[in-house]
Amino acid sequence: MASEAPQAGELPLPSPGELQELEALAVELAVEAGRLIVDERPVDLGVAKTKSTATDIVTVMDQRAQDLLRSRLRARRPEDGFLGEEEGGTAASSHITWVVDPIDGTVNYLYDIPSYAVSVAAVVGDPAEPGAWRPVAGAVVNPVTQEVFHARAGGGAWQVAGSAEPRRLRMDAPPPLSQALAGTGFGYDAERRLWQARVLTGVIGQVRDIRRIGSAALDICAVAAGTLDCYYERGLNAWDMAAAWLVLVEAGGRFTGFAGQPPGAAMVVAGAPALHGQLETALLAALRAAGEE
Ligand code: IPD
Ligand code: CA
Repeated sequence: MASEAPQAGELPLPSPGELQELEALAVELAVEAGRLIVDERPVDLGVAKTKSTATDIVTVMDQRAQDLLRSRLRARRPEDGFLGEEEGGTAASSHITWVVDPIDGTVNYLYDIPSYAVSVAAVVGDPAEPGAWRPVAGAVVNPVTQEVFHARAGGGAWQVAGSAEPRRLRMDAPPPLSQALAGTGFGYDAERRLWQARVLTGVIGQVRDIRRIGSAALDICAVAAGTLDCYYERGLNAWDMAAAWLVLVEAGGRFTGFAGQPPGAAMVVAGAPALHGQLETALLAALRAAGEE
C-alpha cells in the first residue's frame, strides 16, 4: 500500500561498486541516445502524436531514443525496472528502476533550439510515489553542446564538456534572492500555465530575473553548475528530474518539494541551501497571492 512504502531516506543504497557501474552505464547510454537524436534528426521533423494536450508533443525521435535506451538496458540489466516518458514502465525484479527522459526539452528539439537533453537515472524505491524513491546514479547530456553532467550517490557531481578535464561541481555561496537568476518552466496545459504565470508575478519582482530555458533537466544541472542560481517548477514528472536531482544534491544543493514535502509534481524547489529557503518563502507568498495556500 502506498502509505506503507518505505520513505526515500530509508531505502538502502547499492554497493559502491554497483553505484559506479550504474553511473558509468547512465553516462554511456545518455551519450549514445544523444548522438542518435542529433545525428538522425529528420530535416522535416514531424510530430508523431500529442499527449496530454495539443502542445504536449512527442517526436519520432523521442520514441526512437526511448526504444534505444530500453533495449540497451534490457540487454545489460534485465532485472531492473524501466520508466520512460513515452510509455508505461516495466516493474523491477531487482532493487533498481531506470527512469529516463529520451528528450527533455522536446519543444526545443522540434524548433532546433539547442537546449535539450537526454536524462538517464537509476533510482531505488517506487518512482510513481513522491517521497518513496530517490536517484542513486544518473546522467544528463546535452547532445548539441556535448555537455555531460553525471553523479552517483556519495560520488560527487561532475560536468564534462568536450575534451576538457571533468570538473567537480561544488555550489558556491549563493547570492541573495534579490540578485538571483531563477529558472522555471511552464506546463503544456493552458490552465496550468495561466496559474504558473500568476505565481511568477509574485516571484519575478523579488529576483534578478527569470529564465525559461525549456529543459527542466538542464535547468537543474545549470543550478548545480552555477549558470542559474535557483529553480522552481510545478508539474515535473519523475523522468524530468531524476538524474538532475542527484547532480544538484551531489553538488551541495537542496532539492525538495514545497514546505517539507518531497520533490514531485506538486512542486520542485532547487538551489544552494541558503537561497533555497529564501525562494521557498517568496514562493509561499506568491502561491497565497495566486489563491493557493
Ligand atoms: C518539459 C521540459 C520543460 C518543463 C516541462 C517539461 P519535455 O519536458 O522539461 O522545461 O517546463 O514541465 O514537461 O516534455 O520536453 O520532456
Ligand atoms: Ca521532460
